[in-house]
Amino acid sequence: MSMDPSPKRAASRGFFNDAATFVERLPAMKPLKLFSGAVKGLTKLFYNLISKFDKGENLVFMNYGFHHLHEEPPALEIPPGLENVRHQVHMYHRIAGAADWRGRDGLEVGSGRGGGAAFIARHFQPRSMTGVDLSDNAVAFCGRFHSDVANLRFVQGDAEELQFPDESFDIIINVESSLYYPNVEKFFAHVVRLLRPGGHFLYADMRYLEEVEHWKRQLAETKLELLHEEDITKNAKHALALNQEYRQSLVKKYAPRPLRGMLSRFGGADGGRLAAGDPLHGERVYKRFVFRKLTM
Ligand SMILES: C[S@@+](CC[C@H](N)C(=O)[O-])C[C@H]1O[C@@H](n2cnc3c(N)ncnc32)[C@H](O)[C@@H]1O
Repeated sequence: MSMDPSPKRAASRGFFNDAATFVERLPAMKPLKLFSGAVKGLTKLFYNLISKFDKGENLVFMNYGFHHLHEEPPALEIPPGLENVRHQVHMYHRIAGAADWRGRDGLEVGSGRGGGAAFIARHFQPRSMTGVDLSDNAVAFCGRFHSDVANLRFVQGDAEELQFPDESFDIIINVESSLYYPNVEKFFAHVVRLLRPGGHFLYADMRYLEEVEHWKRQLAETKLELLHEEDITKNAKHALALNQEYRQSLVKKYAPRPLRGMLSRFGGADGGRLAAGDPLHGERVYKRFVFRKLTM
C-alpha cells in the first residue's frame, strides 16, 4: 500500500490554516475594498486579542525579524529579557538606520506593541517619537510598558485616516503593517502629506509575488523619491527559522488549541511563506525601501 498522501492532502494544512491564508489576502482583494471597515474590524479584533492573551507581556515586537546573512550584525545592546527578539530588534535597526533621527520628529504607523518605537527613541534619539496603531489594546499596553522612555507617545489611529497636521514629521517608519490596509494608497497619501520636505519614509513589508508589480506602481504614484530598495526575504526567512522554537512556544502558551495552527501562520512560526514555493498558500517577498519627499 502506498503511503503517499493525495496531492490535495499534501497541499492543504487544515481548515484554520486555509482560513488564515484567506484572511491574509483579504486586503488585496479589490472588490473587498468596499468592505474595508469589516477588514479593519477583523484586524483590530485579532491584534486586540493578542494583547488580551499576552498576560505575561512577552510580545513587544511582532515582526518576522532580520538575520544578517553575509555581514557582521551591528553590536547592539539588547535589553535584558529581550534576547529572544534580537532578530526583531535587528529588523528595526536595519530599517530605521537609513535616516538620521537626531533632533527629528518621528512617526511609526502600525507600531504594534511598541518595541520598535521604543528602540528607535532610545537608540537613534529623535526629538520626539509617536507610535500609532489601530489596536486600542496595543496602544494601552504601550502606554504602560514603555512609559519610562522619554519623548515617546502612543495614540490609537488608522493608517488610512491619520489625524496629524500637514508636515508634522521628518521621518515616518512602517514595518510589516501595510499588508493589512485595504486602501494602502490612502496611507501613502498621508505619508506624503505628513512628511516635511526632505523627510524620509522608511518602509518594509511583504507581498505575495503576484501583488509586487501593483505594489510598486502604488509606490511610484506617491512621487516620493526612491533612494534605496533591498530584498530582505532571505534575511527574514532565516530569522524565522532560528526563532521557530520560541515562536511555537508562545503559540502553545497563549493560544487556545483550535487556533494554534492559524496563529502559527500569522506569527511566522511556520516560516511565513517567504519564497516558500507553496502552491496552495503562495509565496511572499519581503522588501525594504527608503524614500525621500522632494523639497519643492
Ligand atoms: C505584524 S504587526 C507589526 C507591529 C510592529 N510594526 C512590529 O514590527 O512589531 C502589524 C501591526 O499593524 C497594525 N495595523 C493593522 N492595520 C492597521 C491600520 N489600518 N492602522 C494602523 N495600524 C494597523 C496592527 O494592529 C498591528 O499592531
